[in-house]
This record gives sequence, structure tokens and C-alpha cells, in this order.
Amino acid sequence: MTHSNDVLIFDTTLRDGEQSPGATMTHDEKMEIAEMLDDMGVDIIEAGFPIASEGDFQAVSEIAKLAKSATICGLSRANYKDIDRCWDAVKHAKSPRIHTFIGTSPLHRAIPNLNMDEMAERIHDTVTHARNLCDNVQWSPMDATRTEWDYLCRVVEIAIKAGATTINIPDTVGYTAPRESADLIRNLIATVPGADDVIFATHCHNDLGMATANSLAAVEGGARQIECTINGLGERAGNTALEEVVMALKVRHDIMPYSTKIDTRKIMNISRRVATVSGFAVQYNKAIVGKNAFAHESGIHQDGMLKNRETFEVMKPEDVGLAGTSLPLGKHSGRAALRAKLNELGFDLADNQLNDVFVRFKDLADRKKEVFDDDLMALVYQNDTDDDRLKLKSLRVVCGTEGPQKADMVMEIDGADVETSATGDGPVDATFNAVKALFPHGARLQLYQVSAVTEGTDAQATVSVRMEEDGRIATGQSADTDTVVASAKAYINALNRLLVRREQSEPGYDVKGVSYKDA
Ligand code: KIV
Ligand code: ZN
Repeated sequence: MTHSNDVLIFDTTLRDGEQSPGATMTHDEKMEIAEMLDDMGVDIIEAGFPIASEGDFQAVSEIAKLAKSATICGLSRANYKDIDRCWDAVKHAKSPRIHTFIGTSPLHRAIPNLNMDEMAERIHDTVTHARNLCDNVQWSPMDATRTEWDYLCRVVEIAIKAGATTINIPDTVGYTAPRESADLIRNLIATVPGADDVIFATHCHNDLGMATANSLAAVEGGARQIECTINGLGERAGNTALEEVVMALKVRHDIMPYSTKIDTRKIMNISRRVATVSGFAVQYNKAIVGKNAFAHESGIHQDGMLKNRETFEVMKPEDVGLAGTSLPLGKHSGRAALRAKLNELGFDLADNQLNDVFVRFKDLADRKKEVFDDDLMALVYQNDTDDDRLKLKSLRVVCGTEGPQKADMVMEIDGADVETSATGDGPVDATFNAVKALFPHGARLQLYQVSAVTEGTDAQATVSVRMEEDGRIATGQSADTDTVVASAKAYINALNRLLVRREQSEPGYDVKGVSYKDA
């Protein structure tokens, strides 16, 4: 097979990204992100790990049914039960794919305690099993970059002969470096019989900050699929960031003549959405999607920019979906102006959604003179719903230099109003203690993060709260001009989501002690 210079984009935000501690998303959020990925031209969406839980299975099958053009892929370990469950979830897609993997490096082989021959046999059997179900099978030797070269060639050949159509080479622990990444793919293609008949993929983690460089180098070595996530979300230091590889290929097409199908103008919106639902804020100086990526503060930079944008910019903000500076809205702006502005920002809201946002907008505009684009986006992304079991009705906090601070709170819990007063070490602590008094729970606060949406002392604060209970993790978000109110709402939002997870959760499937052929 001759491969053109088209590079497939395989997005694993909903699998590798969502798997990172604290980044869990609700079912509806996964649907929304999947739709955005499909819409922006992602070729393959890895929608989840169907055997991991009933929730994962449901999400993958629903995404499979809804996807318009992307191939929908599910992950499975190297056993028949995982693979069958994966197929059951993805088979509804117009274009389904089964992705199956096993760790092939010495350290990973030791986990299932398989010798090289036993593992080779398992790879042959499981890829054959997957291929009997689905024409499109991806196989990954996990920790490939630390697998012995001869053994890697041997197992890649086995997987190809067993019917794998894509061979993914993961740098699971972010260990490789660009030259090595390119050579590894180039040498595999040159050495392994049948390599020309499959697509080689690269899947890099960012532990040494080289994921983007390693992915691009792999493409130069012959890989034609990049695995990545929005904002580089993922375990530890994350995965390759989709926006970085896509924009690098676009901007430096002169030296990297490869193309993707991504509509880059959709990057900013999905980046913001993933940051909100995952609770992983984007660092200000993050390439492409950071708040400062296109900001020019210093006098010399501003002067240069006014004369010629290219002085300090290698790409246009519009190319990644950043609208040019436009006038803020205020309290006299009407529904039509709000709709127009939201459309400009890439939102196409149904009438009832627009009504909800309009109510919140009016409330904010009463308290804040100018409502900027970022304010509006924070309003759109408020994710409390009418179905929430816990709601904040009112909050009054007494602060002063003499502690302790006191919070008087009314909450609605399962439809009934309850109220209390609580003290604490600071206003936020008093507020959280009030919630705990009204709704006793064992969840542990893992993260509490506040950031200003815009500048000025009347700016809204966005608060992210991550809570953990019995291994389940949920993130809550809220924005308000009052930081303590935003904190209370974010905390309650996290609790609501934890309650949903508690209701939905079931233990993941454990393969230990089960033959890999047992279905
Ligand atoms: O990093 C990794 O090795 C993975 C595999 C499951 C492909 O995510
Ligand atoms: Zn990974």
C-alpha cells in the first residue's frame, strides 16, 4: 500500500484523556465532546474502554450511533471478553474499529507473567479474534519504545499476519526522543514483512515534554496516524496535544508536507470545552490554546504587531478560532445581540438554551459593566441542571480580620429547603463546612482552583473543585463575580456529579484468573 502524505488524526481525549485521574466526564459531556470532534474533522475517535464500566460501554455505543463521519474506536485488552464487549459497543458505527493492546516490554510482560512465546501466541489469537468481528483492527504493543527491537518486530509481524490494519507504536511512558521516534517507525516499516499493507500510528506521552516533537518525527519516519488529545489531556504529563501537531503541520507545511482534515477554526472552542468538563485548566502560556498564546503585552511587541502582525505571530488567531477583538456586551444588550455574539463564538444554541443563558447574562450584566467573550463562555458552560439533587438557594458570609468566618446557607436537597450556619478558617472553608453540615458526605476535596475569567476587580471567578469518594472522582465548576458563591456552587456541582457516578458505578472487569479465551 502506498501511503500518501495525509495524516490521520486519532483523538483519544475520551479514552486516554478521560482516564487521567480527575478528568472524568459525564455521559452528556462525552456526547458533546464526541460531536465536536466529529465536526472538526477528526478521523478516528477513541470513545472509551467499553469493558471498564457500564457507563463507558453506554457512552461508546451511543457515540458509535451518533457519529456522522469519524471512525469510532473502542479499547480492549488482549482477551476475548474485552474484545467482544468492545465490538458490541462500536458495531453500531458507520465505521467501527476495535483497538486491542498488550504490554510487550520486559516490565509489562512480567505483569501477566507471560514469556515471549506465550505472549506472541496471545497476540496472534486476540488479533485474529478481533479481526473475525471487525474489518478495522488496531493493535498496540504497549511500552513499544522500551520493548526489545527483535521482539517488537516479531510481534508486529504476528499482529499484521493476524489481520491488524493499523499498528500503533506507543511511547507509553514518554521516554523516546525525536530522532529515535522517527527511526523506530522507519525501521519497523523497512524490516517487518507486511508493514507496507498497514498504517503505522504514533502514540506519545509527554513525560519529558517531547510528545509533539516525537509524534511529528514519527510522521517523518512514515507514521500516518497521530494519536492525541485536546489540550494534551492524559495521564501524568498527558498525551500529544491535537492542536499542537495539527497547527505545526499546517504552519510548517514547507518542511513537513503532510496534511490533516482538521478544521483548525474549531480548535479554540473544543479546547475550552474540554478544559471545562475535565476540570483541567489550560495553562496561560500553553502553545496554540493558552490565554497568552496570542497576547502581546510588551511595548516593543505591540509596536511591531501594529506595523505587521507577522513580526511576532507565526499563525493568525482566526486560524484556531479566536475571534478578533469585538465589543463587549452590556446590560442594555438584548437577546438578538447575545445570539449574534454567541454565534460569532461558535455556539449554535437552541431557543431554550439561549433563554437560560440570557437570564444568566442579564444577572451578570447587572453586576458587571462589560460582559466579555470569556464571560459569556463561562455562562454557557455552567453545567448545573434542573435534575441536580443539591442546589444552592442562598449564601451569606460574614468575614473580618477577627476569625472565624461564618456562612449562613440555604440549600435545596431533593426538593426540600434546609438551612444552617457554619464557621471555618476563612470564608471558603466556612462555606464548604456549611454544605457538609447540610449534606454529610465522605468525599475528600482533592483540588480547589480559582481563576479570573477576565481582568478587573469585578471579574468573574471560575472555580474548579475536584472531589474523591471510594475511588470515584468528580469535578465541579462554576463562575460568579463573587468568588465565594462560585466556590459554593462548584463544590455542590462536584457533589452532584459524584452522586451520579455513585448511582452509575460498577466495578471494572478484572481479567486476573480468567483465561483470555473465556468469553
Ligand atoms: O499509552 C499507551 O500505551 C496506551 C495504550 C493503551 C495504547 O494508551
Ligand atoms: Zn496512552
